[in-house]
Amino acid sequence: MVDLNKFLDELKARTDLQALVFLSGKEGNFIAGAKIEEIENITDPRDGAEKAAMGQAVFAKIDALPFPVIAVIDGACVGGGLELALACHYRLARDSEKTRIGLPEIRLGIIPGFGGTQRLPRLIGIQRALDFILTGKLVDAQRAYRAGIIDRVIPQEFLPQQLRRLGVAFVQEIQNAPTREKILARRNRANPQTLLLEKNVLGRKVLFDQARRRTLAETKGHYPAAELALEAVEKGFSKNLPEGLKIEAGLLGKAIVTNVSKNLVKIFYLTEAVKKDAGVENYSAAIPAFHKIGVLGAGLMGGGIAQLMAHNDLHARMKDINLAAVAKGMETAAKVFSESVKRRRLTPKDMQNKMALISGTADYSGFKDVDLVIEAIVEILDVKKKVFAEVDGLVPPHCLLASNTSSLPITEMARATQRPDKFAGLHFFNPVHRMPLVEVIRGADTSDATVAGLVAFAKKIGKTPIVVMKDTAGFLVNRILGAYMAEAGRMLMEGATVEQIDGALVEFGMPMGPVNLFDEIGIDVAAKVSHILENAFGSRMAGEGMLDKIVESGRLGKKNGKGFYIYEGKNKKVDPAIYAFLGKGGKFEGIAAEIQDRCVLQMINEAALCLAAGVVRRPADVDVGMIFGTGFPPFRGGLLRYADARGIDNIAGKLETLAGKYGERFKPAELLVQMKNNGKKFYP
Ligand code: NAI
Repeated sequence: MVDLNKFLDELKARTDLQALVFLSGKEGNFIAGAKIEEIENITDPRDGAEKAAMGQAVFAKIDALPFPVIAVIDGACVGGGLELALACHYRLARDSEKTRIGLPEIRLGIIPGFGGTQRLPRLIGIQRALDFILTGKLVDAQRAYRAGIIDRVIPQEFLPQQLRRLGVAFVQEIQNAPTREKILARRNRANPQTLLLEKNVLGRKVLFDQARRRTLAETKGHYPAAELALEAVEKGFSKNLPEGLKIEAGLLGKAIVTNVSKNLVKIFYLTEAVKKDAGVENYSAAIPAFHKIGVLGAGLMGGGIAQLMAHNDLHARMKDINLAAVAKGMETAAKVFSESVKRRRLTPKDMQNKMALISGTADYSGFKDVDLVIEAIVEILDVKKKVFAEVDGLVPPHCLLASNTSSLPITEMARATQRPDKFAGLHFFNPVHRMPLVEVIRGADTSDATVAGLVAFAKKIGKTPIVVMKDTAGFLVNRILGAYMAEAGRMLMEGATVEQIDGALVEFGMPMGPVNLFDEIGIDVAAKVSHILENAFGSRMAGEGMLDKIVESGRLGKKNGKGFYIYEGKNKKVDPAIYAFLGKGGKFEGIAAEIQDRCVLQMINEAALCLAAGVVRRPADVDVGMIFGTGFPPFRGGLLRYADARGIDNIAGKLETLAGKYGERFKPAELLVQMKNNGKKFYP
């Protein structure tokens, strides 16, 4: 920024220039934004505001140059990178896979601070700008063009080396006034109605009120940056640009020092660490290539997994017991692709091509050249063992075998084959295309090469993997979630209402309450899992038969329209009849904070037990698992980051109090007690 500043002063003084073209010397990367450390280290709002003002001042010099300034974008143009481009007078972008354009600041709990909240609404209109600023979404060159951010898309056929020449040609083009006018006119082409709204004060008020309501409904007030960004756009838009920029800088200062921002930055680091982690310490051997994947079982998960393979341009060979079942799997996959087509993320032609990568069979034909088999058949150990023994004899020697089981022992399945070293768990979450987490589970015989191969594979298909070191019940995520849901069940039986429990945990920040989650998972499935967990870990996981009774009555949850809630079309409401199944009833004294503590501290305690037992390698795996597998609120920085923030003292103490009141199951884990005594944290 200092160099750029000096350079711009020199340019301004020159009289021999017709135009300035910004190009990146780094192929496939325009500017990827500010260094995250810079954001993390700011603890004084004045410092934040000052840094923003400095950046704004540099970019204002670009804007003020007496000749046209053009950004020619190829690759990432995000955050401060886009703000630089917005300060230019024209923007061209190459239509390459690497081109990503947007303002992702909100994802780090801050707002754009180098002019983004001011220049973008002025360029493309308030509503369209808010859609970028409040979601942090990144789009490709075509979409950025449609939104009005980009003035021209450079077809991919042009090579990076040709961009300079194209930039210069564009300079010549815009010497022509009608051409110039045409380019400027297409930028803010919002429909006339919204334009009218945006043009007058009252209309804008309506618009911002709506946006604020929508934002609050989504963030529930947990993400202050969203409100600050709205404030920056609203207040700035009615002022001139320099005043707007001042407002933006002040609000950036406010956002950057919030705990939420610091927590979101930590999560950013967590995900970066996952990207670098091979899954095995110091692993350096080659990773095998995966081209064709065998998928066993074409049910809900198998269909989803086949879709995910095809989405990533891998061949999927799906096998089920008959062709009707295979067809259902195809349908499941096609439905996910159709959604993308509807949202214009995929063309119908692309969908066709991707679907063509999925083929099906009722025998094992087509399995002799697969590189990996992912099994997602019925959750019955003997059936899985039999199927794995069969497939083991058919696939090539290098092929890895993986089970998507939620609860069955990996080691036992592996030993049904002749290649237990090439066998592991590969646990996806439902719905497969949406849930980012995958657990890679080691059996007793699983080799390092298999773990590293599956970890690399999970990343290749766009997922976030964590390695589970032991194939104990529930692996990591479902075990921790099990402790949480069992506690919610107990409160129901003590007489708490569904609304009390779900309300308290949604307020805590969970994407949905635990009772609602029973319905989503399917009460039958939840009951089965709870028995498995209870067998393995005892009474803290016990459901006391509550779920079984509900299942017997024919309530399975959302999938059959009736569970704790009743589902009618898109609406749901708590079914008062459900309380007949919940035992004692009566008056429940718990307040929201206690409901939250009972559920959340059970999770923390279970996580501590997992760490002590070596189920995962480090606290970060717990946090990645819970955020990306269950939606544990990111603004809290993760389950164990939250425990650190509250203080291990506080957590252990509160667990002891709860143990006194409700019994042994709250007894703080040995690890927590030690940490408390030694003043340790999960993240030193
Ligand atoms: P599903 O019941 O929808 O599908 C199972 C499919 O396996 C059916 O199409 C069935 O015909 C087929 N099948 C049964 N025996 C077979 C055999 N011998 N050979 C080939 N196919 C056979 O079940 P879903 O929900 O897809 O679950 C599959 C696996 O994924 C289970 O192990 C489950 O624990 C696991 N899982 C399920 C999740 C969920 O949310 N549903 C989440 C994560 C894992």
